[in-house]
Amino acid sequence: MAEGFASSAERAAFIAGLPKAELHLHIEGSLEPELMFALAQRNGVAIPFASVEAVRAAYDFSNLQDFLDIYYQGMGVLIAEQDFYELTAAYLARAHADNVRHVEIFFDPQGHTARGVAFETVLAGITRALDDAKAQHGISSKLILCFLRHLSEAEAEATLDEALPWLDRIDGVGLDSSEVGHPPSKFARVFARAKGLGLKIVAHAGEEGPPDYVHEALDLLKVDRIDHGNRSLEDAALVARLAAEGMTLTVCPLSNLKLCVVGDMAAHPLKAMLDAGLRATVNSDDPSYFGGYVNANYVAVADALDLSKADIVTLAHNSFAGSFLDDAEKAQHRAAIDAYA
Ligand code: HPA
Ligand code: ZN
Repeated sequence: MAEGFASSAERAAFIAGLPKAELHLHIEGSLEPELMFALAQRNGVAIPFASVEAVRAAYDFSNLQDFLDIYYQGMGVLIAEQDFYELTAAYLARAHADNVRHVEIFFDPQGHTARGVAFETVLAGITRALDDAKAQHGISSKLILCFLRHLSEAEAEATLDEALPWLDRIDGVGLDSSEVGHPPSKFARVFARAKGLGLKIVAHAGEEGPPDYVHEALDLLKVDRIDHGNRSLEDAALVARLAAEGMTLTVCPLSNLKLCVVGDMAAHPLKAMLDAGLRATVNSDDPSYFGGYVNANYVAVADALDLSKADIVTLAHNSFAGSFLDDAEKAQHRAAIDAYA
């Protein structure tokens, strides 16, 4: 057993009570099958599943695209402001139960506007739930608009235009969806404009795509964080650079397993990342599709890699250090972790 714990159960209990931030969470990926069914019925949207069990059984993916096909289909039940509210409120209640103190949430507006749902409907529902969770649970939040990289840069520019009236509620922009064949360079101009607007910059890179995509995210998009970043480990010079720059990687263990980015959790690179001095964090990505919220991700990877108490405390510290909170807020969370540990 790793240093600091007498048993795996003791480690899981420590993780459960640990204050933490979640930095990589697609709100549409927190749509549980039960809510999908309820919204399909309420909105009169047909879904190709007979039962909640049939939905869960369909969540058997061999790569990112397999998942994305089902993910875009699932979000089709989200129509009204109240739907986005209930989706977000359900996630925040789950996060609160996992002792998450701060969340930085992705949303995919193009997955909704393409279906005729107004940008402001999406924004109003999500932000109302964020405000309520702050009041009810004390959870703070940031909101990150993601561009779908399988679409064109012109479409990303149009989405940024739609976001302009909402910039008081949007903290950053990101890049998600099908990675291979859609390198960060495709979006260099729209990210430069977003940065000029004062938005934080993140991008999925090195999940399925090569280390070159991580280089491009750093050099061309000027990212503040890398989402996933697993394949960075194939490039020793890149690892040294990420460590030297204190770049945060938002790693998602159960996602990596479900999408076959790793063949086995025991082969997950998280420990290697920590040992290389990388600021790695643990996150749930799309928890309803990948089998667990943030604590389940910590437990799965900690058990498979036999992580010590020091490793787990480092991961929680990294989650706040890599957040977009200000220095005083980060210091408060850091003290709360140290008091707990
Ligand atoms: N990768 C890329 N795009 C996504 C993901 C992911 O893990 N989840 C939702 N959109
Ligand atoms: Zn993701």
